[in-house]
Amino acid sequence: MLKHLSFVLAYIKYRFNCINKYGIHSPYFFNWAQIILYDCNPYPVYETIKKTRRNLIHSKQTINVTDFGTGTSHTKTKKVSSIAKRAAKPHKYGALLFKMAAFHKPQCMIELGTSLGLSAAYQALARPKASVTTLEGCPQTALIASQTFEQLQIKNIKIITGNFDQTFEQVLTQQPKVDWIFFDGNHTYEATMRYFKQALPYVHAKTVFVFDDINWSTGMKQAWLEIKNHSSVKATVDVFALGIVFFEDAFSKQHFVLKY
Ligand SMILES: C[S@@+](CC[C@H](N)C(=O)[O-])C[C@H]1O[C@@H](n2cnc3c(N)ncnc32)[C@H](O)[C@@H]1O
Repeated sequence: MLKHLSFVLAYIKYRFNCINKYGIHSPYFFNWAQIILYDCNPYPVYETIKKTRRNLIHSKQTINVTDFGTGTSHTKTKKVSSIAKRAAKPHKYGALLFKMAAFHKPQCMIELGTSLGLSAAYQALARPKASVTTLEGCPQTALIASQTFEQLQIKNIKIITGNFDQTFEQVLTQQPKVDWIFFDGNHTYEATMRYFKQALPYVHAKTVFVFDDINWSTGMKQAWLEIKNHSSVKATVDVFALGIVFFEDAFSKQHFVLKY
């Protein structure tokens, strides 16, 4: 109850603080917002992914889910439909990932937290020639994700199954370069900071990090604050549900809370 109230208050604060493109003084971020946040084109892939989401929401299947998200790792039976409703990022943010990936043109993309594969689909379809490596701890969830990719005929995603604590470092070292990471699993302060610091040695000026649920809990808010203030971070964009991080040296340290 208290957590819910704090989330609502965080949203009200965001709505008061957020600005639209006309409040952005930086020409780069004005253009970024114009091209990404204000792009309402109904790209055909949106409809394809929405159809897959609808199928998952209407699925009658149940699976044994190994749940890492709470910091423990126990198994329970869950309906695929409820995972599709609760765990997957809504279309609005999938579309944002799609538009950002299309704009930044990353070649080597990593996602922490595949779930049923919906967010990975937006990212991979934005960059069909790039490689997307998505990490998922639960084998049965990863299996559904692989079916999602097959149905969508996506060929450029590789799923790595296992606890991020074991798989992430290996995936980082295997990439020729790290252009993009979407952090969407294990939303605790401790894990978020650990994965952020683990990935930092691999960033270059054009790398983009996207953090999910930056306002989800006190721990995530604290993690986002520390990430924003980290000396390697040159600019950030906060759209409430997601926080986007840039490392371009040419940017003077700047943080934007943007309406989306
Ligand atoms: C919020 S869901 C991802 C949703 C997905 N990105 C989407 O929007 O379609 C987070 C996923 O991360 C996985 N996960 C969480 N902590 C993990 C860990 N420590 N190791 C491996 N997988 C983990 C969970 O099993 C869950 O499927």
